Amino acid sequence: MLEIRNITKVFHRGDINEKLALQNLSLHLAPGEVVTVIGSNGAGKTTLLNALAGVFQIDEGQILIEGREISRQPEHVRASYIGRVFQDPNLGTAASMTIEENLAMALHRGQPLRLRRGTGRSQRELFRERLRPLGLGLENRLTSRVGLLSGGQRQALTVLMATIACPKLLLLDEHTAALDPKTAGVVLDLTTRIIAGGQLTTFMVTHNMEQALTVGTRTIMMHEGQIILDISGPERERLKIPDLLKMFEQASGKSLNTDRLLLAR
Ligand SMILES: Nc1ncnc2c1ncn2[C@@H]1O[C@H](COP(=O)(O)OP(=O)(O)O)[C@@H](O)[C@H]1O
Ligand SMILES: [Mg+2]
Repeated sequence: MLEIRNITKVFHRGDINEKLALQNLSLHLAPGEVVTVIGSNGAGKTTLLNALAGVFQIDEGQILIEGREISRQPEHVRASYIGRVFQDPNLGTAASMTIEENLAMALHRGQPLRLRRGTGRSQRELFRERLRPLGLGLENRLTSRVGLLSGGQRQALTVLMATIACPKLLLLDEHTAALDPKTAGVVLDLTTRIIAGGQLTTFMVTHNMEQALTVGTRTIMMHEGQIILDISGPERERLKIPDLLKMFEQASGKSLNTDRLLLAR
């Protein structure tokens, strides 16, 4: 489904700030595979997601989705089939627009502008149907401005927006890290339900070690722009959080260091 072949990204090439952010990185994801990604600050996790989303051009290598090379495709084209959720709930939604306007934009992403904003009755029904299972009462607030929602409500809406058009690939970048633990649990729970319902091929970067081991079927550790460990199957099922941290230390020579490393819920 997704094939990453020997990709490299250098920031500020040739100057004193030169940074090799992705080093000859390769990875293959099967359709519907859900992979969690961990690594210290600056390991290149966000850069990897940016490379997939087309935020910048990679310097070397190729990215293929369903066998088609997309490495040179601009970000707005990829956005029609790649869903993305960031850590900051404010980034995924337009505050001054209503819930239904935001959802309509998301649903028609990649289509001509004139089709994007309108919300007919059947579309409204669809939005209500999708909002109801979130359990946040948003289905009764379609015409509320998104700026009035709490961070957790807004992030729940962002997850729905990122997935409503059935993307080929879903990229989650520490998307529960800015939420309080209870809200984070709610958002994670609805995320895993949506992923399972749509059998979405997913990358989920997380600082939460329990999430890293329990969500999906595979965990990747990144360090200095490379994948230093790739764990799945029975090996992963047996793994406890201390084992995971020890493996990271052995493979990288450093201890795992993130802003808000969460060892348990
Ligand atoms: N747009 C950019 N310009 C320059 N350097 C960048 C840019 N994006 C990321 N970097 C650098 O690349 C490295 C990896 O960053 P990032 O992918 O954000 O790490 P992570 O998400 O794992 O914490 C860091 O050293 C960071 O400073
Ligand atoms: Mg990051």
